[in-house]
Amino acid sequence: MLSEKSAESIICEDLDFICDELRDEFVQLLGKKLLIVGGAGFLGYYLVQAALHLNEGTPDSKSVEVTVFDNFIRGVPDWLTQLEVNPSLQIIRHDITQPLPADLPAFDFVIHAASIASPTYYRKFPIQTMDANVSGLRLILDYCLKQRDEGSPVSGILYFSTSEIYGDPTPENIPTSETYRGNVSCTGPRACYDESKRYGETLCVNFAQQFDLPVRIARPFNNYGPGLKITDKRVLPDFARDVLGGRDIVMLSDGSPTRTFCYIADAIVGYFKVLILGRNGESYNIGTERPEISIAELAKRVVEASSRLFGYEGKVVKQNSQESDYLVDNPSRRCPLISKAREELGFDPKIGIVEGLDRALCWYRENSEAEEA
Ligand SMILES: NC(=O)c1ccc[n+]([C@@H]2O[C@H](COP(=O)([O-])OP(=O)(O)OC[C@H]3O[C@@H](n4cnc5c(N)ncnc54)[C@H](O)[C@@H]3O)[C@@H](O)[C@H]2O)c1
Repeated sequence: MLSEKSAESIICEDLDFICDELRDEFVQLLGKKLLIVGGAGFLGYYLVQAALHLNEGTPDSKSVEVTVFDNFIRGVPDWLTQLEVNPSLQIIRHDITQPLPADLPAFDFVIHAASIASPTYYRKFPIQTMDANVSGLRLILDYCLKQRDEGSPVSGILYFSTSEIYGDPTPENIPTSETYRGNVSCTGPRACYDESKRYGETLCVNFAQQFDLPVRIARPFNNYGPGLKITDKRVLPDFARDVLGGRDIVMLSDGSPTRTFCYIADAIVGYFKVLILGRNGESYNIGTERPEISIAELAKRVVEASSRLFGYEGKVVKQNSQESDYLVDNPSRRCPLISKAREELGFDPKIGIVEGLDRALCWYRENSEAEEA
């Protein structure tokens, strides 16, 4: 029964699932060097652990060597500190907006996931957010060019963009395909994130076209699950925090905006597929097409799941956020078309919202405290 499962067993199952889904693609990582910039974050949690999981049962000579760069602006997570003993992992405190260390090896694969993703925190650090997506990305692309000129070309670069580059899509553009150009404010409180991601994509496309660099772009749609710390201020950890604190669930909107929530293990499979199989200079929506549910419906489902799993007896209440910009430019609907990733990469998300919420809530039960950063 899931309610009896430990967080550790949930993670193990997810890592097995990821490695199994990627058994063909992961062959290309064996014996290679992988750089994950921003690897201490939510997506880093499974990106790093999935690569290390691949090493289990693999001869040392074929191990993936993982290097993580992070400036830890969102804190130093315990899970990463605990992995420090792993001989295939090197963790380097580095701000990607600063020149890269001089003594770096040549990397085979590079992932740029270094950008604050939580709206509350990117509004708190808007300049750092823009810099990471523009100057930081530029430094990575330049390093990859230098590597190629020195005879060690990189095999794949993944830039994490976002579904937010679409802004608040017009109704006829929902579900949203990669060809939609977006409806985005360039000056609003979310613009530091949305617009720097848009420029980041433009940089990637032009480096791919001009220099034939193997840069690929993922546009994530609302991932959730283990690794997204409870203090992150995104919607699901906020709800989980209320549940585990024994309080009513507080909804900070009228509950009407809709989203499709993609469980992290499915999304990670998609990201590695984009990294390894994606076409140069192309962007791919990674998420799930259904169900598109309102935030009110999500809250209701969290109440149901928590009552089933933990005997939770709370209800959903509405409140205004203390943050005045909390809802400004918040998209009213977000739902992807994923046919491009499905057809080109074989991406096929499998974990439904009921199972995903159960897994996430059980993980939060053992991870109900985290640094406020
Ligand atoms: N999680 C999602 O659902 C989602 C949705 C859309 C886009 N994305 C994108 O995916 C990427 C990863 O998202 P996440 O959810 O893991 O974000 P996160 O905020 O949890 O983690 C980001 C990590 O990047 C690090 N970082 C930030 N600026 C840095 C810098 N200048 N130098 C080095 N490290 C830096 C942070 O310390 C943190 O560890 C981001 O680019 C984000 O915009 C994620």
